[in-house]
Amino acid sequence: MEHLISSKDMARFVGSGYLRYDDMVPPELCEASRKEMESFGGFLSVGTPFEETWPKEGALGEVFRLPKVKGLIHSLVGPDPLYDHHAAHLVKAGQLKGPDMHQDSVIDFRENYYDIQLSFFPVDTHDEMGGTFLVPGTHFRNVRTGEIRGYQHMIGKIWATCPAGTIYVWNTRVWHGARSNHTDKDRYMFKLRLNPTQPQIRNFDTSDLNDPEIPSILNTRHGWEGNEMRYELMKRVQQWRYVSDQPDYDQGERFLRRREYQPQLQA
Ligand SMILES: [Fe+2]
Repeated sequence: MEHLISSKDMARFVGSGYLRYDDMVPPELCEASRKEMESFGGFLSVGTPFEETWPKEGALGEVFRLPKVKGLIHSLVGPDPLYDHHAAHLVKAGQLKGPDMHQDSVIDFRENYYDIQLSFFPVDTHDEMGGTFLVPGTHFRNVRTGEIRGYQHMIGKIWATCPAGTIYVWNTRVWHGARSNHTDKDRYMFKLRLNPTQPQIRNFDTSDLNDPEIPSILNTRHGWEGNEMRYELMKRVQQWRYVSDQPDYDQGERFLRRREYQPQLQA
């Protein structure tokens, strides 16, 4: 498999819950995709092998089979993922959005597995167009879908401001929502969700697995964590151990040592 993401990017995904890649889809294909989104149908066969289910024809059929996109998908969910659902999200010109922060995957308490969502922006998406917002690092905070809509202006919030052809990929548990479109142009974002079928272990490029920057990447502060940062880091270290197949990985001076040290086992 070509175009696998690096271990450092995988650590970013664990630490922040999302990755952004510019220049994933060439301009002609963006244009064709944008047109196709207006009439692209509803859910396909949910829970079936993505490769068999996803249309082989058409622009959007092609986008998610580009070698770079395939490498990205493989890195995060591994081989033979399942199609979950897709949606051509439209925020019409001038459409205003109220509070709508939410988490998609309610009651998803799987210990290690995670689904991904790819958000493809087929046109230049400026700040005023209202690209999807995310609150990085919230993917270990399970809540009940829209119950968090009252939280606004969270520290660390980011939003998609990007050129056409950009793909954001994110852990489906990241808190997110749509923003108001203050322009006279419709704003499209094409979302695709995929499920893993195998343990999500070492599917990325592991040649930089021991990069000295990885501990600090995992320890990224997004601003909202406050005094809970240690708790967040524990969750990230646990997930990093899993995806990198390093059950003994730890941060600095054995960050998880106290919790794991059991006197009776030492006797
Ligand atoms: Fe959502």
